[in-house]
Amino acid sequence: MTSLNLTNISWTPLGQGHCHHSFQLRDASLHVATGEFVGLIGPNGSGKTSLLRCAWRFSKPDNGEVRLDQQNVWKQSSRWCAQRIAVVLQEFPDAFGLSVCEVVAMGRTPHKGLFDGDTIEDRNLVKSALESVGLPGFEDHEFSTLSGGEKQRVILARALAQQPRLLILDEPTNHLDPRYQLQLLQLVKRLKIGTLASLHDLNLAAAFCDRLYVIEHGRIVASGTPREVLTDTLLRNVFGVEALIDEHPLHGYPRITWITQS
Ligand SMILES: Nc1ncnc2c1ncn2[C@@H]1O[C@H](COP(=O)(O)OP(=O)(O)OP(=O)(O)O)[C@@H](O)[C@H]1O
Ligand SMILES: [Mg+2]
Repeated sequence: MTSLNLTNISWTPLGQGHCHHSFQLRDASLHVATGEFVGLIGPNGSGKTSLLRCAWRFSKPDNGEVRLDQQNVWKQSSRWCAQRIAVVLQEFPDAFGLSVCEVVAMGRTPHKGLFDGDTIEDRNLVKSALESVGLPGFEDHEFSTLSGGEKQRVILARALAQQPRLLILDEPTNHLDPRYQLQLLQLVKRLKIGTLASLHDLNLAAAFCDRLYVIEHGRIVASGTPREVLTDTLLRNVFGVEALIDEHPLHGYPRITWITQS
């Protein structure tokens, strides 16, 4: 039972004043219930990564509160958060010279003392995490030599090895081919833990998310089920694109067909 609540979050990047041209998160509220898969969608630069950073206790909001299981995350340590929240970022970590096994094993760090070595349980968790992302036997490969999609899956494996209660994903399907896009989202969905994911592929968002929040210029401008949120009007107003919306012929969730001009 783990829930995440962001209430009236405001945040201004350091060094930026409050002039109206600069970016700010303004009064953003968002909720992820136990087991819920929540998507955050919005144009480039709208504040998805910034809001996720507030959610995983990386950026401290100027105003508002982030609560995990009713606890204010800024009244808890970063370790307390890392024991509960795993994060898959938009950019890969600097893992120069590290093996895949070492990268995935980092997921265990929040659960260990400073000088604790890897236990058999840790090694088994690393092994099974790599298996579940389709990379069995990759332990000894050097992380930096992997393809973009393989790296992304290793980072997901690290998040799985962390055994989180809540998962935060920033454009997790970016580097993946269609098979692994679907596989990653299916795998995450089956974990049945709360998940907050920013997604650019709105058809994937429609297929996997229980609820969506739409962010534009640092404000949450819409929220609801994919069916409620993904309307042609919203796509025109927020993303500036034209689309036909109908139903997926097998699953019934909204299907977006882009209208392009040639
Ligand atoms: N630390 C920072 N310093 C200065 N500007 C920042 C900082 N962090 C974010 N910004 C600005 O805030 C805005 C929102 O950035 P953010 O990364 O949250 O967007 P995003 O919605 O994740 O975009 P994308 O879809 O491209 O990933 C951008 O204009 C960015 O330049
Ligand atoms: Mg981003």
